[in-house]
Amino acid sequence: MSPKQFFYIALMNNIKNYKASKDLLKDRVILVTGAGQGIGRVAALTYARYGATVILHGRNIKKLESLYDEIETKGGAQAAIIPFDYEKVEGKDLEVVAQAINSQLGRLDGILHNAAFISSLTQLENQSLEQWLVTLRVNLAAPIALTRSCLPLLKASPDASVIMTSDTHGHYPAAYWGGYAVAKAGVEALVKIQAQEWEVHKNMRINALIPGPVNTSQRAKTHPGEAKHGLSRPQDLMSTYLYLMGPASQGVSGESVFC
Ligand SMILES: NC(=O)c1ccc[n+]([C@@H]2O[C@H](COP(=O)([O-])OP(=O)(O)OC[C@H]3O[C@@H](n4cnc5c(N)ncnc54)[C@H](OP(=O)(O)O)[C@@H]3O)[C@@H](O)[C@H]2O)c1
Repeated sequence: MSPKQFFYIALMNNIKNYKASKDLLKDRVILVTGAGQGIGRVAALTYARYGATVILHGRNIKKLESLYDEIETKGGAQAAIIPFDYEKVEGKDLEVVAQAINSQLGRLDGILHNAAFISSLTQLENQSLEQWLVTLRVNLAAPIALTRSCLPLLKASPDASVIMTSDTHGHYPAAYWGGYAVAKAGVEALVKIQAQEWEVHKNMRINALIPGPVNTSQRAKTHPGEAKHGLSRPQDLMSTYLYLMGPASQGVSGESVFC
């Protein structure tokens, strides 16, 4: 077994046996993209439950406000809402987002890149240039740009973790998954490149997280009519989301972690 394989098996064992302490994310500020529904919503609630101040991103303000209220009702730290559409946002808007985080919260210790867009599964010959551009923008280019804008805040954090959500079909591309799979494969390449570039910054790590099949609207879109009982629920994955966001994953960077 190579040292790399040994490291990965040890990592998966650590995650399997991981039990987060109640104050794991106390005093940390964490941005969750695509927090309005599905896995992102449950991850934001979970990070808040473990002490984080959570910045909620999405397009639908009503959904974000309902999540904000739920965090407050459950006794979490007051959240913040940053709504924008990855299809429309420009680089300069993302600079403003980072400045707003700095002026309102004064720090950023983690980003969960969770927002994603997938159109219907179809052959490459049916995917137009316009669909390709939207898919690569929402799933890959805009999240990279957001991370870049937040870099000064992440560098200033004593322990910063960036999680990029990938997909089994990004890791193992397959027919009909088209631009979405290519974007997610790009996410995993990006994570490896960024991790190497951050090797000099011992306080920063970045990893790809692969949820597997989870009962959400995205899954219903890609697998209509599928029986739900065999699927994971978002809450079943949260131990891995906590492990990668919290200090237990210090020293782990550039990995693709399967839930
Ligand atoms: N569910 C699965 O089986 C599965 C499997 C593998 C990987 N994943 C990955 O896990 C992550 C979460 O998936 P999910 O199943 O929870 O998906 P979901 O329920 O469809 O949620 C996707 C989120 O992305 C946000 N979003 C979509 N387009 C956006 C845009 N243009 N600008 C800003 N936000 C946008 C949505 O925001 P609004 O609410 O504002 O619309 C929504 O909150 C994704 O990265 C997905 O690729 C999921």
